[in-house]
Amino acid sequence: MSAPSRLALVPFLSVAGMMRLVHAIGIEPFLVELAEEIEADFRRWPAFDKTPRIASHSDVGVIELMPTSDGETYGFKYVNGHPANMKRGLQTVTAFGLLAEVETGYPVLLSEMTILTALRTAATSAMAAKWLAAPGGTGVMALIGNGAQAEFQALAFRAVCGTREVRLYDIDLAATAKCAANLAGRGLRVVSCATAEEAILGAGTITTVTADKQYATILTDNMVGAGVHLNAVGGDCPGKTELHRDILLRSQIFVEYPPQTRIEGEIQQLPPDHPVEELWQVIAGQAPGRRDARAVTLFDSVGFAVEDFSALRYVRRRLAETGLAQQLDMIADPDDPRDLFGMVMRAA
Ligand SMILES: NC(=O)c1ccc[n+]([C@@H]2O[C@H](COP(=O)([O-])OP(=O)(O)OC[C@H]3O[C@@H](n4cnc5c(N)ncnc54)[C@H](O)[C@@H]3O)[C@@H](O)[C@H]2O)c1
Repeated sequence: MSAPSRLALVPFLSVAGMMRLVHAIGIEPFLVELAEEIEADFRRWPAFDKTPRIASHSDVGVIELMPTSDGETYGFKYVNGHPANMKRGLQTVTAFGLLAEVETGYPVLLSEMTILTALRTAATSAMAAKWLAAPGGTGVMALIGNGAQAEFQALAFRAVCGTREVRLYDIDLAATAKCAANLAGRGLRVVSCATAEEAILGAGTITTVTADKQYATILTDNMVGAGVHLNAVGGDCPGKTELHRDILLRSQIFVEYPPQTRIEGEIQQLPPDHPVEELWQVIAGQAPGRRDARAVTLFDSVGFAVEDFSALRYVRRRLAETGLAQQLDMIADPDDPRDLFGMVMRAA
């Protein structure tokens, strides 16, 4: 049997490999470069083949596929969301993803994406805040929900938006203690708070990144003052929201891909024709973004396939410089492409 061809061996980035890549680049440079990659892809948004993600819901969570293509490269992510997993010692969100050449359909990268999802979600949040927050509005951020995503959010805001102070709150004191310990010595003033009301004091940006499979009210209308930027990350499924509807009614709402966000985002609480603005248009210079310094801006984040595509392409490029990828014998590749059967039989 001859050696597999170049395309038949698929570069694979394991969890250990991803962690080594993050350390080799440095977590903040990684987040900054990733935000730049995502921003570049948002600028060429019309080039992407887009569809709302394909979700399979159950009583306890959701399993989703998130595909997109720019005509040269195709990508998809498998991701779940299971808020009760944490109590069983499991992650709420896990993911892996793949890139393929459109030309041949052959995969060119298979990667862990649990860590990469946290990085890309944080990079996207910080990128959105850079465009939407009021001048000086990212200096102090409240971070409500101190689970797996939280530190990544804080560090992306520090690296991309210059955030200096992060004010933590979680219903679980242990989560806040973990988050505060992980953020110590990373150039942020970290304030652990006993209530959400305390966390938002003086914060120009409020990030909500809680997990609960229900319509939750992490913020009520009276908690959101003029000029605040809201980065609502945790409401990302039908029946799973974080903000009181009244906040939405007086916010300028920015979304990734409206057909998906209408189903999954905070705006599922609003009529289907409620006006929203598309973040890519602001970044591409086609829409003005924040109206004035007193407007409340809301990034109704649900996570869109283009961000995962950008993240996988970024990783693929940086990986080429490191030798951290393993080669997976994943694609059957007979010498005679029509003799798949013969290849199987000869392996006996
Ligand atoms: N928008 C996106 O692109 C995107 C990407 C990844 C994850 N998410 C979502 O972000 C959320 C957080 O993910 P995670 O991996 O950090 O989950 P996690 O389970 O690790 O952490 C969630 C935290 O929220 C806390 N929490 C729950 N209810 C709360 C409340 N009422 N007030 C304050 N804190 C509360 C929990 O105690 C927990 O510490 C999930 O809902 C997930 O689906 C969104």
